[in-house]
Amino acid sequence: MASVVESRTPSISSISDLFRQVRARTMQIVAPLEVEDYVIQTAEFMSPPRWHIGHTSWFFETLIQKFKPGYEVYSPQFLYYFNSYYEGFGARIERPKRGTKSRPTVQETVAYRSRIDELMLEFLTRLEGHSQADTILALVRLGLEHEMQHQELLVYDIKHLLCDQYNAAVQLPPVSVGKIEGMAEIEGGLFWLGYGQPVQSPESKVQSPSNDFAFDNEKPAHQVFLQNYALDRALVSNGDYLEFMRSGGYDDYRWWFSEGWETVNKEQWKAPLYWEHHDRQWMIRDFSGLHAADDKANEPVSHVSFFEASAFAKWAGKRLPTEAEWEKAARGRGAEGTENGLRLFPWGTESISSNRGNLLENSYWGVTPIGSFPEGASLDGCHQLIGDVWEWTTSDYVPYPGFKSEFDEYNDKWFVNQKVLRGGSFATPQIHIRSTYRNFFHAHERWMVSGFRCAKDL
Ligand SMILES: [Fe+2]
Repeated sequence: MASVVESRTPSISSISDLFRQVRARTMQIVAPLEVEDYVIQTAEFMSPPRWHIGHTSWFFETLIQKFKPGYEVYSPQFLYYFNSYYEGFGARIERPKRGTKSRPTVQETVAYRSRIDELMLEFLTRLEGHSQADTILALVRLGLEHEMQHQELLVYDIKHLLCDQYNAAVQLPPVSVGKIEGMAEIEGGLFWLGYGQPVQSPESKVQSPSNDFAFDNEKPAHQVFLQNYALDRALVSNGDYLEFMRSGGYDDYRWWFSEGWETVNKEQWKAPLYWEHHDRQWMIRDFSGLHAADDKANEPVSHVSFFEASAFAKWAGKRLPTEAEWEKAARGRGAEGTENGLRLFPWGTESISSNRGNLLENSYWGVTPIGSFPEGASLDGCHQLIGDVWEWTTSDYVPYPGFKSEFDEYNDKWFVNQKVLRGGSFATPQIHIRSTYRNFFHAHERWMVSGFRCAKDL
């Protein structure tokens, strides 16, 4: 493991509290599953729920191994099964085969998880005065961010595994405030892209639980030049997307990148993932059942690939935004004299609450109608930038100039052939997201909660 740099060090008690909270939430997500559900792998890209609960514990065990002298590993078999892709931690099971093993059993995995919880909390209570306390606390925080990423993956994988057969405790979604239309016109110029731009004044320094952490791939903040541009105020909806489909969008090569067109033909795509055709009607299956797509016309389209998002944008006479254009819109306009200030969210600096965006804590287990979160809108009137769906951008996932890796094999080994998505989804924990967060997937992937909005040159 490389040392963690440039992160503000959290206190032992705040990290212990966060540890308890985050670890408990993972188990709340899987609570409605039956034991048989934990071991099945329904596609190469997903992982069995048992694997997630073990793997997130394995991550903490590697930390204990490194910093606790004389520690004996819980089980060499577990280290093999629960390692994901870390070459530095030795041999591991291939990802597509995670669902081919019935051992370790679910019970054994849960026992392993509880033991790691005990060891970690005990380790944290004895950390006061430890010569490497700051490094360890920063790594524990990273482990918790890692676990939150897996909470989101668990939601995707449970959806793929069970979809409407999963008994989630779903809350009733909010009501839209009305139609959100048009594009926000945003002035270009120099913009500080990324986390932690120079502080302009002491008062503008922000400290809240939501923004005391950022991944290395969000840093360093650096200036980029943007032309004037326009960005959709609303996410592209199922209704918009149905128009594209009904106008023959999936049959017309003109809208598609060459690789996208190949994928459409090879995979026989006719609609986003989880759309089904019944009685000459498009239906969408989600955690709450099967619904006519027309009845969900005002909800953001989701489970689309970069290829599909780009094809729609071209058909609509627009384009996808770059990640810098998206981020500038999502950080709003700052206080006078502070460039765009230190705003980490479209509404300003206050941390996220349930009325600002549709995230995991809202427990809707699905997207919400466009215009459901007026209090989360930016000053330019862009809605739902944070939450609901991850938004595809046209930017390649590459390091920012001056990038320094803070953790081996975490973010930097993926800097090739992937596209950046922004903003978080209904499956993202609140404290895990901010406007500088860079998620990344391959252009053909669509099992995650991915949608988009379009941009245009001015
Ligand atoms: Fe992982």
